[in-house]
Amino acid sequence: METAQVPEKPAEDRSAYAGVLRYYELAKKAEWQVRDLPWKELPPIPQYKGSPQKLARRLDLWRSVITQQLQADELAVEMATQLFSMAPDPEAKLYYTTMVQDESRHTEAWLRLTEAAGGRAESDPYLDQMAKMQLGADTIEEKVFLMQVFYERLIIPRFRLIARSSKGTVLEDLCNRLTVDDGIHHGSGMAYAKVLLTDAPTKTKRRLIEGANRMLPIFVQHALWRPKAREFIGSLMRDTDERRLREDLDQGVRLAQSLGLDVSDVNISI
Ligand SMILES: [Fe+2]
Ligand SMILES: [Fe+2]
Repeated sequence: METAQVPEKPAEDRSAYAGVLRYYELAKKAEWQVRDLPWKELPPIPQYKGSPQKLARRLDLWRSVITQQLQADELAVEMATQLFSMAPDPEAKLYYTTMVQDESRHTEAWLRLTEAAGGRAESDPYLDQMAKMQLGADTIEEKVFLMQVFYERLIIPRFRLIARSSKGTVLEDLCNRLTVDDGIHHGSGMAYAKVLLTDAPTKTKRRLIEGANRMLPIFVQHALWRPKAREFIGSLMRDTDERRLREDLDQGVRLAQSLGLDVSDVNISI
C-alpha cells in the first residue's frame, strides 16, 4: 500500500516575534536570587545618628518608601500572572514565565526588607485603583501597554533616585537590580506591543487610548501621593514632583506615538 502523502503545511512565519524571544533570553541571563543580595554584609536601609525622634522619623520614612515598592510588586505579580495566562502567542507566554518569576522575587526581597525596617506602613490607595483597572482591562493590548510600556518605564528613574539616597545598603543593591529587570520588562512590552498593534483594528487602538485616559488621572494622584511619614517632604518636593510627572507623561505620549497610536485624544492635565 502506498503511504499517503501528507501535504506539508507551510511553516508559519514567526519572525515578528523574534524581539519578544530576545527578551526571554535576556531575562534568563539577568536572573538573580534573593540570597544574592548582601544581607550579611550591608545594613538593610541607611543608618543615622541623632536623637531618638530623628531616628524614628527616618525609619518611618524608609518604611514608607519600602512599603510602596512592596505594594507595587505584589500587584505586579498578579498583573504578570494575568499577562502570562492571557497571552495568545507562545513566544510571549514563554517570556511571561520570566516576568512572573521576577515580580515574585521582587516581592520576596521587599517582604524581607519590610521586615528588617520594622514592618509595613501605609499603602497607596491610588496604586490599588490603578491595579484594579489594569486587571479589569478587556484586551491584552491594553494590559501590555498600560503595565509594560507605560508603568514599567516610568518606575525606573524612581529606583535610581532611591538607590542614590541609600548608598551602601541592601536597598541600594535591590534598586539597582530592579532597574535592570524593569528595563527588560519594559523592552519586552515594547517588542510585544509592536507585534500586537501592527494588525490591530482601529477599534482596539481607540480602546487602548480610552483606557489610558481613564488611568492617567489616577496615575497623577499616585505620583503626587505622600503617606503621612513623607508628608513634610511632599510639600517641599511638590514642584519637583510636578515637573517630574510632566516629563513622565510626555514620555508616555512619545512611547504611544512610537507604537503608531493616535495620541491626539490623550488628556494629560495635572
Ligand atoms: Fe517588579
Ligand atoms: Fe516589573
